[in-house]
Amino acid sequence: MRVLVLGAGLIGLSVADELLRRGHRVTVVDPAPGQGTSYAAAGMLSPGSEVWHGEAEILRLGLRSLALWPSYAERLGVSLHCTGTLLVGQDRGDLQQVERQAELLAGLGDRPRMLTGPQARAAEPTLGPRVVGGALLPEDHSVDPREVLAALLDRVGRPAKWLSGRPERRTSRRTSCDVAAAATGTQDVSKVGKYDATVVATGATLPEPWRHLVRGVRGEILRGHTDDPPKRTVRAWVHGQPVYVVPRPGGDLVIGATNEEHDVPPEVTFGGVFTLVEAARALLPGLDRATFTEALARDRPATSDNLPLLGPAPDRDDVVLAAGFFRHGVLLAPLAARLVADHLESGSVEPLLDPGRFTRSTTEGARC
Ligand code: GLY
Repeated sequence: MRVLVLGAGLIGLSVADELLRRGHRVTVVDPAPGQGTSYAAAGMLSPGSEVWHGEAEILRLGLRSLALWPSYAERLGVSLHCTGTLLVGQDRGDLQQVERQAELLAGLGDRPRMLTGPQARAAEPTLGPRVVGGALLPEDHSVDPREVLAALLDRVGRPAKWLSGRPERRTSRRTSCDVAAAATGTQDVSKVGKYDATVVATGATLPEPWRHLVRGVRGEILRGHTDDPPKRTVRAWVHGQPVYVVPRPGGDLVIGATNEEHDVPPEVTFGGVFTLVEAARALLPGLDRATFTEALARDRPATSDNLPLLGPAPDRDDVVLAAGFFRHGVLLAPLAARLVADHLESGSVEPLLDPGRFTRSTTEGARC
């Protein structure tokens, strides 16, 4: 097949790489390859710490994709940090959040080991003295999404820029090309080329008529460097404020992330930076000596049921949506790539992820 992939983030590039591996011809277009939400992402591969009540399916998807990550990372030549996640609470109320998470995971089949405050500090000596307890998720990994993006761009090749230019050549019927034209902001469908299918992986901003299916949830995130990083990812509630610190080999670390609904472009705010720094330094007091290197804001692509859209676009069999990964894009990238390629080759769709699920339920509701 000849496939056009719109979007060179982790999802678009993973899909493109998988299609190339399977012998298809792929063109990727993006205005700023690898600079979207994936560029800001912390890279936690932690299905259990990002699931919430009523989201068992996200946990199952996350576990399926986590199982793919070791061979995926090996193929891309990127390092995987298999040191687990430590969930901790800074006060008694925060510990209740950890206990709720542990109960939720126990209900879904995997009870994590609970730790007292001293046990948590023994496991992670950089934790401050006030941490009252936690839980260990030893099977979690993390990866540097920027390393993954660079590896995928090497494999897939430089994406073309969004096209722009000559006047529109009208087509009698909507084709993949007009979706590409709309998404790339050009009127010139003739420059887009001819494809058997278009995969839309444009993060938080889908082209019309699917724009309403995904909304942006802003995340602000910080980066720094320290000589005394935590050994593993630490996720915490600090007086009610969620925060995570993800170490990279060599002392770099990522502190994230705020979570806010906005209808304006994502920008770093003093409020976001202050919230993250205040929570992170209470948790890991040694961060006072860390150097600050970067602050970024990006929109997470969220759907109304927090599950991705993976499959044929409503009313358009030649367009596949690979979107709406919300907090789980890095974790789900290898699985998403397989599911999109399977769909293009065999028509298979996982009903829970079918982008038509919202349309269907509306129609069914109307009939009732
Ligand atoms: N997956 C981490 C975040 O969304 O902040």
